Amino acid sequence: MNPSDILKRIDRIGSLGTLPAVAEKINEAVAQDTCTPAVLAGIIEKDASLSAKVLKLANSSFYGLSRRVDTITRAITVLGFNLVRDTALTVSVHRMFSQQAGGINVEGLWLHSLACGVAAKDVLSFQQGSGGHEAFLGGVLHDIGVLLISRLVPDKISELYSGRHTIADVLATERKCIGTTHAEVGAYASEQWHFPASLVEMIRCHHQPRSARLSPRTAAAVFVGNEIAKALQLGTSISFFVSEIEPEVWGVLGITAADMHRLVKTVHSDFETARDLFAG
Ligand SMILES: [Fe+2]
Ligand SMILES: [Fe+2]
Repeated sequence: MNPSDILKRIDRIGSLGTLPAVAEKINEAVAQDTCTPAVLAGIIEKDASLSAKVLKLANSSFYGLSRRVDTITRAITVLGFNLVRDTALTVSVHRMFSQQAGGINVEGLWLHSLACGVAAKDVLSFQQGSGGHEAFLGGVLHDIGVLLISRLVPDKISELYSGRHTIADVLATERKCIGTTHAEVGAYASEQWHFPASLVEMIRCHHQPRSARLSPRTAAAVFVGNEIAKALQLGTSISFFVSEIEPEVWGVLGITAADMHRLVKTVHSDFETARDLFAG
């Protein structure tokens, strides 16, 4: 398959409605300088289940707020535009994972993606004890290309992703069969969805964090988060084997081998919280 064939198919994703329309509206609104809390809240509140999930997330231990927020406007004031946008986009991405996909274990891939998001956030917040949310959505979206490929070329899925492989094997097979990789497909689609450039970079570089230029630290966090999710067998990844993490990547994140025990404990507990939040 020619690489441009699959990218042409991705160009039709918008019309196929793969990214929920509400997510596009939220994204567009936040990108405007004129966006106010009332405008963003108005978009989210039109979707009752999205609104309920955003409030549930905002009030969870995930964000560590000391006071309850009862309205979306209040959540925006307390958490900020970007965090509420990311929360709403995470809920929308979960919806994409809830739809049928050809030939892949979509629930397993969702749990793997959620675990990667949680671990990426925990890796970034490890030193300062909180924050790191900018990496969470990157983790949730890192393998979105796999979901898209499963919808665009369902007949290729068993050839691409069955069996126990290293990520190098998976990427080589993707290049051979479809002329591109899930990282490129995910990055291309997120550009079409007008996601922020740093988020596109996290998706594109999630297997090569050292090629990240805009925000190397968050890209490194998503890379490590992916490997932690695999090592802890949270969800189902397309590559079975955990990749080696180079000392330079740990260095960028300021984490040492001695920190791993505490980090893994935090990831386990945050993953349980996140899974429960999205289960209902
Ligand atoms: Fe990946
Ligand atoms: Fe992954």
